[in-house]
Amino acid sequence: MNSISVNILVLVSGGGTNLQALIDAEKAGRFSGGTSGLSGKIVAVVSDRAGVYALERAKLAGIPAFVEALEKTLTKPERRRDLSDRILKICQEQDIGLIIYAGFLSILTGELIEAYAGKMINIHPSLLPKFGGQGMYGERVHQAVLASGEKESGCTVHIVDAGTDTGPILIQRTVPVLAGDTADTLAERIHREEHIAIVDAAIMMVTNILTGGKS
Ligand code: GRF
Repeated sequence: MNSISVNILVLVSGGGTNLQALIDAEKAGRFSGGTSGLSGKIVAVVSDRAGVYALERAKLAGIPAFVEALEKTLTKPERRRDLSDRILKICQEQDIGLIIYAGFLSILTGELIEAYAGKMINIHPSLLPKFGGQGMYGERVHQAVLASGEKESGCTVHIVDAGTDTGPILIQRTVPVLAGDTADTLAERIHREEHIAIVDAAIMMVTNILTGGKS
């Protein structure tokens, strides 16, 4: 039985309800046990902004949390590279095996993306490839879905690649778009499904990493 554990880094930018779902799943033993010796542990949380409630959630759970704020004096590409390099350093120090973007709003680039190819996942609040890509985040996604007249929406967990919301899809969960929905009511319905999808995808990834893709 493989008893090696996968150290998980969770990236956040906001309230952190997806982070909370991951913390609760770990506490409930969902990242450990089973015949494969499945074992995953959230060892660090990184936020790209200070003061967000996700940091408080990490603190309450006893998980080390780091604020790696965007360096505003740099150009956009330099800023992304700088943040990515700082996150890579944390990953190396903490021996991270899986990175989960849980409502993380920055785009990462460079060596980090190469070093963690196939080991980074992101949750997006739409049924990708619809309503994804640069600038499609938060309320804008749900407003675009409502404006398009789609009958359903949902969430997607996918592997992160060099693009934005473009990597291979791991899990999608669907919700109906109801008459009278606002961006808020639709977002709330999707958020509940995100909490299930992100945990299921994390378990899938930990199992896959520990079995070398043979599960
Ligand atoms: C989620 O809707 C996620 O899909 C999006 O940002 C939101 C973050 O929610 N990228 P939370 O911070 O996990 O509550």
